Amino acid sequence: MDRLTRLASYLQDKGFIFGPAPEIYGGLAGFFDYGPLGKGIKNNVEQAIRKTFTSQGLFEVECPTILPEEVWVASGHLGNFTDPLIKDEKGNIFRADNLIEEHCSHNNIDADALRLDSASNTQLLDYIKQYGIRSPVDGSELVPEITYHNLMMQTTVGVDRVAYNRPETATTTYLPFMRYMNFFRDKLPNGVFQIGKAYRNEISPRQFMLRMREFTQAEAQFFLFEKDKKEFAPFQKVADQELPLWSVAAQDEGSYTPQLISLQDALEKGLIQHQAYGWSLALAWNLFLAMGIPKEAMRFRQHHKDELAFYALDAWDIEINLPTFGWTEMCGVHDRQDYDLTQHAKHSSKELYALNPDGKREVPHVLEIAFGVDRPVFALLDLYYEHKEKEEGKTTFSIPYPLAPVSVCVLPLTNKLNDQAYELFTSLQQEFIALYDKSGSVGKRYLRADTIGVPFCVTFDFDSLEDNAVTLRDRDTGEQERVGIEFVAQRIREKLSTLKE
Ligand code: GLY
Repeated sequence: MDRLTRLASYLQDKGFIFGPAPEIYGGLAGFFDYGPLGKGIKNNVEQAIRKTFTSQGLFEVECPTILPEEVWVASGHLGNFTDPLIKDEKGNIFRADNLIEEHCSHNNIDADALRLDSASNTQLLDYIKQYGIRSPVDGSELVPEITYHNLMMQTTVGVDRVAYNRPETATTTYLPFMRYMNFFRDKLPNGVFQIGKAYRNEISPRQFMLRMREFTQAEAQFFLFEKDKKEFAPFQKVADQELPLWSVAAQDEGSYTPQLISLQDALEKGLIQHQAYGWSLALAWNLFLAMGIPKEAMRFRQHHKDELAFYALDAWDIEINLPTFGWTEMCGVHDRQDYDLTQHAKHSSKELYALNPDGKREVPHVLEIAFGVDRPVFALLDLYYEHKEKEEGKTTFSIPYPLAPVSVCVLPLTNKLNDQAYELFTSLQQEFIALYDKSGSVGKRYLRADTIGVPFCVTFDFDSLEDNAVTLRDRDTGEQERVGIEFVAQRIREKLSTLKE
């Protein structure tokens, strides 16, 4: 069984991820249910996002997921948000770039070097011919013609108003811009973020949770005057921070070798264009650390000019090296300039501006940190899941404690102690997501807890009746300590709050 099949079956069996959903109707590719444990992790990830952004003074907002057609004409998505398609002889349709990428990953070819995101139709067809790629359905020939498919899902509002499910939260965030200016008392810079659903009508998505048709995005939009991008005071706090920046020039030289460079050096060498952008990179990086992703598994990759999204001046992606899929795009940091506010002002005939220090109306620029939440959730599942064949098929899930979906499991040593143990369980439930497990030996119960990544097990034994204390077992160290019942919650709280390096 390959790793992805094994992982997906573990996630299904233990209550993390189900699907494709709706399972009992046969499932629709690209849609998944989050079971109790998966949703617990996603909540913790979103909590880390909220904490990181609000600690920098950004405020959370929420906008509709359905917007009328004119918004998407203005944003450029109706014209530009497309994927290249190719058919086989039977009429089955595939994403041309994905077929090539999959072929590369199965044959140890470096797909990055092919720069599929920016490849022309002719280049895509050349690769397909060169590698002899055929239909993944029945091995038949592919028809050498590329067509384009818009990724947005259309819907109708009322009887006949054409509208679309948003393909990103960002566009919806820009529209109330003048309301934000009012809220922030006309001061720039300011920033807001959204965490919410977005929809992309992917053609035959085949990469499990990495390509979902309905997914959750978290996107921060930071508004500032263009001239303030160069001298940006908060940059000083992160100027010395060293990040693995894989620039366009380094990519053109060959394969990736991790190299740390401070943001100050990156600025001086012209790798990044301004201080505000450097600050955004540091914020995105620190956010991914707060979400429990180990720094060794991450890098920043710069977009080539012809790979940039239609709204971006510069873009670097955080990529994570996943055990199942290799280096995978996780988050984009975009300099969207004044593109969006200018477009929406033009199409809505409502001016979107801020007053600059000279008292003149000026369209602010936007720096964006954008990612799908489901991807870092999948990264946590993939990075920390381990199946140990040599240890009788033992499975462990060593997710960092603050991100674990269940924090504590309470075990009565024997069923005779059920009443007292259950009382402790209900009291811990008031603060933590907790499980109660009374069946099997204590060793078996520890194993069950390890399998789903529970950081702490609390065992109530006969001595507990005498000394009013319980045994607290730490998942990663296996250490056991005796803790007074009244201090258990505090001890768990302390241990949970530290994210190990
Ligand atoms: N808002 C940018 C993106 O969806 O990638």
